[in-house]
Amino acid sequence: MSEIFQPNPEFAKNANIGSMDEYNTLMNKAKENYEGFWGDYAKEKLDWIEPFTNVLDESNAPFVKWFDGGKLNVAAQCIDRHLDTRKNKAAIIFEGDRGDVQTITYLDLFKNVNRFANLLKEDFGVQKGDRVVIYMPMIPEAAYAMLACARIGAIHSIVFGGFSSEALKDRIEDAEAKVVITADGAYRKSKPYMLKPVVDAAITEGSPVKKVLVVERNNEDVTWVAGRDYSYNELIKDKSTACEAEPMDSEDPLFLLYTSGSTGKPKGVQHNSAGYILWAQMTMEWVFDVKENDTYWCTADIGWITGHTYIVYGPLAMGATTVMFEGVITYPDAGRPWSMVENHRINQFYTAPTAIRVLHKMGEDAPAKYDLSSLKVLGTVGEPIDPPAWKWYYEEVGSSKCAIVDTYWQTETGGHIVSPLPGATPIKPACATLPLPGIMAEILDPATGEVSEVGETGYMCITKPWPAQIRGVWGDEERYKKSYFGDVVKDGKPVYFTGDGARYDEDGYITITGRTDDVINVSGHRMGTAEVEAAIKKHSNVAEVAVVGKPHDLKGEGIFAYIVLKSDDGVADEVEEVKAINTIIKKEIGNIAVCDDMIFAPGLPKTRSGKIMRRILRTLAKGEEVTQDISTLEDPSIVATLTSMVNCKTC
Ligand code: WT7
Repeated sequence: MSEIFQPNPEFAKNANIGSMDEYNTLMNKAKENYEGFWGDYAKEKLDWIEPFTNVLDESNAPFVKWFDGGKLNVAAQCIDRHLDTRKNKAAIIFEGDRGDVQTITYLDLFKNVNRFANLLKEDFGVQKGDRVVIYMPMIPEAAYAMLACARIGAIHSIVFGGFSSEALKDRIEDAEAKVVITADGAYRKSKPYMLKPVVDAAITEGSPVKKVLVVERNNEDVTWVAGRDYSYNELIKDKSTACEAEPMDSEDPLFLLYTSGSTGKPKGVQHNSAGYILWAQMTMEWVFDVKENDTYWCTADIGWITGHTYIVYGPLAMGATTVMFEGVITYPDAGRPWSMVENHRINQFYTAPTAIRVLHKMGEDAPAKYDLSSLKVLGTVGEPIDPPAWKWYYEEVGSSKCAIVDTYWQTETGGHIVSPLPGATPIKPACATLPLPGIMAEILDPATGEVSEVGETGYMCITKPWPAQIRGVWGDEERYKKSYFGDVVKDGKPVYFTGDGARYDEDGYITITGRTDDVINVSGHRMGTAEVEAAIKKHSNVAEVAVVGKPHDLKGEGIFAYIVLKSDDGVADEVEEVKAINTIIKKEIGNIAVCDDMIFAPGLPKTRSGKIMRRILRTLAKGEEVTQDISTLEDPSIVATLTSMVNCKTC
């Protein structure tokens, strides 16, 4: 039995959902009248240019439509409708790496986004439906770029700034983007770093990209390709601050975001307009309980879904003040986030378990040195959090008075799906607790489609469509169906499967146990082992490779690669070989995919039909003994060989 912590009663009094009774009432309402529940919220929370005529259309499931017939504009939801009451309120508080602070009011945001939108239309000819790739550091212009696209109906596809030119190139080409928005670079640990050269390398002969817009942030020298590259700082000067928001259908695409699956090719997860923005806003109000005068900070990068939904779209849709941070949370020291909480009087702080572990390790006593009394809600996301990190976060950062919302969700869900409500849900360390009202999340037994028994690990599924659901994989209908609706059937109907395992405890609380597929989670970054393998295979001397995850103290999971080389005489110089392979990984994917361990093995454990037994490799990587049956292997002796190699490496 794990400990349980009741919501702070003072906090609960004013919370948007202030008791389990309220939670249950909402959940029951959704169960009894699903469309009524969502239809009412869509009318209440969003400003419609034209009202919708149908709440949910499942006739072509798993392709679904929400709020069909309705028209709205997501940028207008995030900006225009706040101008009457919040014109001078801070929309974005930006803190740069070097401590420079900039406050952008809603009126400033309106003007900046409109100028940006006009630039895209007038100078670059961007039209509704065009794909625009955004490869940007964490600066306000990144948010303007997203909202400018939304304003004119262009579909943005943000590529995380840590991805390499090859990864960027693949994503540009898959989406057939004709414009890339980037920056010369930005600052990290007080030093300039560069992004533009990565873009240059990604745009080769035959690229769909015709124009590149460069925000000059660090003013370092970059190469300018005439007729292709333009300075944002120059072009923006003469742009009008007026720009009509394009009326968009509820189901017009808002953005693509590429994420990893179990094959080597990332998938372009598509989110559409109305359902996505509705849930982004509702979860901000419910899960973070942000109030009118609050300041909210999420430390994610806009290159991930957390940055989309919980730095930009969610906070702005509800008219909140969102903090955007360019730097590194441990620079100049592990007190940085706490000094920011103190300086900006931050009320909600949202970060990843990997960050919490690092901050704990590097600055266990740092929180006590700052005034953190403004904090009300602490959030975590991205991977299972371990109880010691949770405890430190709860006690030292939150002074045992702030709820921790362990929000479980993924790129495909658009927003939170399982999470505590800070004023209602009694919380347990490292437990995502209960589905949010309206979300029919259930742990199912994949064999039967029945709800899993308490304590049994089953598949985390969502049995009814929800508004912020992924609408498709860009350009690949089959992959959408196969990836998400192929594994679990409930009552004769394929249901959405997240890819995660989970179990119920005796209170019906949900604990996420991690991925069931070949996807690993390194510092909260989702990575397909197949992607890393594909990169390693580009090395000319690699014959075979298998990549698995292994537990890592700080990163959650580390990357462990078993590599079979072509040359029989083994590795001439192991250090050089490791370096060469990691260089390829950096080039193909980025630094985030560099391997923590590499073993140059004489072979891999395979069945007679040639299938690599990854389970064995995972067991070995963990440093555990292989107890599974190996008699079906083509060459069972390989297990003993690998065991001694792994042991020798870790000894
Ligand atoms: C995967 C999604 C969700 C935004 C950031 C990552 C894991 C996410 C939790 C949590 C345990 C979690 C899952 C999920 N995950 N949140 N609170 N507890 N695991 O988005 O890159 O799409 O990754 O992250 O495995 O499937 P993503």
